[in-house]
Amino acid sequence: MVKSGLVDQKDSNGQLLVDVSHFRLAIHLVAALFVLALALWTVFDLRNARRGFASDGSTPGKWMRIALVLFALQVIWGAFTAGLNAGYVYNTWPLMNGEFMPENVTAFGSFWKDFADHKDGVQFVHRNLAWLVAAVIVGVAFRFRRIDALQKIWVWLIAAVAVQFLLGVLTLLTAVRIELGVLHQLGAVVLLAVLLRHCATGRRTPATAT
Ligand code: HEM
Repeated sequence: MVKSGLVDQKDSNGQLLVDVSHFRLAIHLVAALFVLALALWTVFDLRNARRGFASDGSTPGKWMRIALVLFALQVIWGAFTAGLNAGYVYNTWPLMNGEFMPENVTAFGSFWKDFADHKDGVQFVHRNLAWLVAAVIVGVAFRFRRIDALQKIWVWLIAAVAVQFLLGVLTLLTAVRIELGVLHQLGAVVLLAVLLRHCATGRRTPATAT
């Protein structure tokens, strides 16, 4: 994958640089997390079945699906942020060097180029989408907290998203201190696991008779 993702770019002195395309890095990360998600889903589903939570055959609720989609988008833009080294610019929070949206974010005037292919816009999306991701995940945790099977884990979901958010901010403020960057990547895996556990459990109702 790495070889196929090598792209030629020139630095400011015209010297040829070799870099990995942030799009391919994102595909690689999403593919890895997708395989992990399938494995985790199977484990959680089997565990729930063993515990006697009967499946009513339904898929996770609408808000759980929305949370998963937003999480996936946030991971993709996280990979773009890492792949474009966009964590080395605008190392301030909550504003980007004192502005909500600096002029450079929309410098190219093309939605795709600005927000998916250029470090300023990519960082803008990742740091601001995080608010929505966190709000929806906290909402899901609260909304479903009364489901018997979720009573022990809904707080973990809130904790996982809060820690992940905080790690993101610290990664940015320290201009990607390596340990924090690694913890932030790991945090995404933990958050995915807790969110999937919620979804897998939430779609099952406690068995009335065992
Ligand atoms: C709460 C939801 C969040 C999720 C699920 C998330 C997820 C991710 C992921 C998966 C990556 C890619 C890691 C890699 O491939 O190395 C990433 C990178 C990054 N994220 Fe987040 N993130 C979140 C919030 C934030 C926030 C709030 C900030 C800062 C305000 C932030 C700043 C960064 C930075 C600077 C990088 C690049 C790190 C590097 O260069 O290695 N993230 N994020």
